[in-house]
Amino acid sequence: MSILQTLKSRFASALSSLTEDTAPLLDMIRSSQDPKFGDFQANCAMPLAKQLGRSPRDIAAEIVENLDVSDFCETPEIAGPGFINLRLRDKWIAEHVSRIAGDDRLGVTSVATPRHVVVDFSSPNVAKPMHVGHLRSSVIGDAICRTLRFAGHRVTSDNHIGDWGTQFGMIIYGYRNFVDAAAYSKDQVGELARLYKLVNQLSDYHAAKSGLPELRSQLTQRQTELDQLTSGSDTADKKAKKKLKTQRKAAEETRSAIKSAEARVAHVDADATLAGQANAHSDIARLARKETSKLHAGDEHNQRLWDEFLPACLAALNQIYSRLDVHFDLTLGESYYNPMLADVVSDLTSKGLATDSDGATCVFIEGNNAPFIVQKSDGAYTYATTDLATIQYRLKELNADEIVYVVDKRQSEHFNLLFKTCELWGFGDVKCQHVSFGTVMGDDGKPFKTRSGDNVELGSLIDEAIARARTVVDENDDRREQPALSPDERARVSQIVGTGGIKYADLHHNRDSDYVFDWGKMLATTGDTATYMQYAYARICGIFRELNVDRQNIASGETAVLLTCPEERALALQLTQFDYAVDAVLADYRPNQLTSWLFDTAGKFSAFYAHCSVKNAESTELRQSRLILCDLMARALSTGLSLLGIETADVM
Ligand code: ARG
Repeated sequence: MSILQTLKSRFASALSSLTEDTAPLLDMIRSSQDPKFGDFQANCAMPLAKQLGRSPRDIAAEIVENLDVSDFCETPEIAGPGFINLRLRDKWIAEHVSRIAGDDRLGVTSVATPRHVVVDFSSPNVAKPMHVGHLRSSVIGDAICRTLRFAGHRVTSDNHIGDWGTQFGMIIYGYRNFVDAAAYSKDQVGELARLYKLVNQLSDYHAAKSGLPELRSQLTQRQTELDQLTSGSDTADKKAKKKLKTQRKAAEETRSAIKSAEARVAHVDADATLAGQANAHSDIARLARKETSKLHAGDEHNQRLWDEFLPACLAALNQIYSRLDVHFDLTLGESYYNPMLADVVSDLTSKGLATDSDGATCVFIEGNNAPFIVQKSDGAYTYATTDLATIQYRLKELNADEIVYVVDKRQSEHFNLLFKTCELWGFGDVKCQHVSFGTVMGDDGKPFKTRSGDNVELGSLIDEAIARARTVVDENDDRREQPALSPDERARVSQIVGTGGIKYADLHHNRDSDYVFDWGKMLATTGDTATYMQYAYARICGIFRELNVDRQNIASGETAVLLTCPEERALALQLTQFDYAVDAVLADYRPNQLTSWLFDTAGKFSAFYAHCSVKNAESTELRQSRLILCDLMARALSTGLSLLGIETADVM
């Protein structure tokens, strides 16, 4: 149990005679930001006093009276209007940190009741190269798996790849009509990606072209309405003003949609080859969809092409995963569930959950406008049907207690309907959670793209990260009197700095937010970056090398840690709270809880190292104690980073 949890449970008893609803009050117990107010602060007396109509200081006094924390805290202090300040006993911190120093798991006990958690993450649609949009799911999902495992849960990581969707019809159509045989035999995946892009572009050309007249008349109409509004109404009227604003915005949107469609059409028209292909394939979108339906209906030729394409696509994905050190226990793509879909629909129908709506089969969930479509009117099953079959499989075959979906937040409506349908279906026992995340943005404030407007391929992004990291590593090593790294070692270190940099930059943001991709910040050697933590780790290893002390023999757990100055105490206290950080990550699957703990801890270590000399400590005991803190700090960094999928090196 973390210190905070222990405190909360003691407060729960202390509060029980005052109120029944202790939970919100317990949430008000926090670490203090300022040591002046002790190590922890409980601000619960004020709201409770209001509730009971009594004076907050009286309530605080009564809570303190009831509170039994003398085994690890000094006498609690009541400050100001009724804050309760708690200061841990130095002796207790020293003993606690000594114990943790002797523990491989840094004080994190394995959970008493392990759950079997299926983590569905990464899950790209194959036949297209992985791009930066796939980074977040891969990195966040991997960190979640690692942290769950560390905590003692059983984890099955499952890459639910999209290997059965419309993109296959597109590449089948592309392959039949446009394949460059030489390119295909040289670089199969590259050629398939080109075909996918081409078919997409040609389909889009026709859609854009045929949609333009409608858009133009829409604009004319909007313009007329706007003219009427501006001339006719009282512009001082608030309501009219608001309407005018909405209308202007709508007209602006239509105008930019027209501009974008015109540009896409012009782009194809200006290229003789593309224009020729577009002309010759005027019905391409429908025909590509037909190839998908044929595949789903068991067409032998299409199935043969699918069998031919898939292994190469998977190999390309695996190459990226191995560079990112991301691993899956299962890769059961959408195709795996295809044989189960008909049963899913008939089961839902026979239970009266799914009903016919204009020829489609849908589940209607109360309070939701959109239906959950499980079979389209043309007979095709959907993404939803597959996800229902997947839950059934994970529950019945894998015996999952919990399923975590690490997927873009734009899919939250889908997961909302999915989970509700599952509950109605009778699968309410398994706990399902959508761990959603925002978009990676460019510095122009739009989703991160290459200059030509294409998606940024993940492979080239990793290449660039490693190349940039190499500059950092070279500069750092060249600055030394005697460079410490061989070219091979520099390459290895650049790899961990580069990939670690990308991962950390992603993980340290609140996952729900969008964030701007910024190379400079990502690989900075100071600040909240992996690079900073990795160098901090190597620097501590350097201290041991310099003093010629073997780290293996340092932390026996028996040697006492001495707390002689505030910085030393603050670091020790912080190091006792690794378990809290791990709990905080798992409470709502937020890896940034761990990055912020790491960053705080690294800051406390800097202060400690600046104020408390290890080498010239006043006594052998103190030197030994400080070495223990250094070693524990190094292990906190390497263990913490490893839970995020980030490596460290002893020399950098
Ligand atoms: N392949 C989907 C996409 O790229 C993500 C799948 C997420 N997992 C799931 N079980 N729906 O949008």
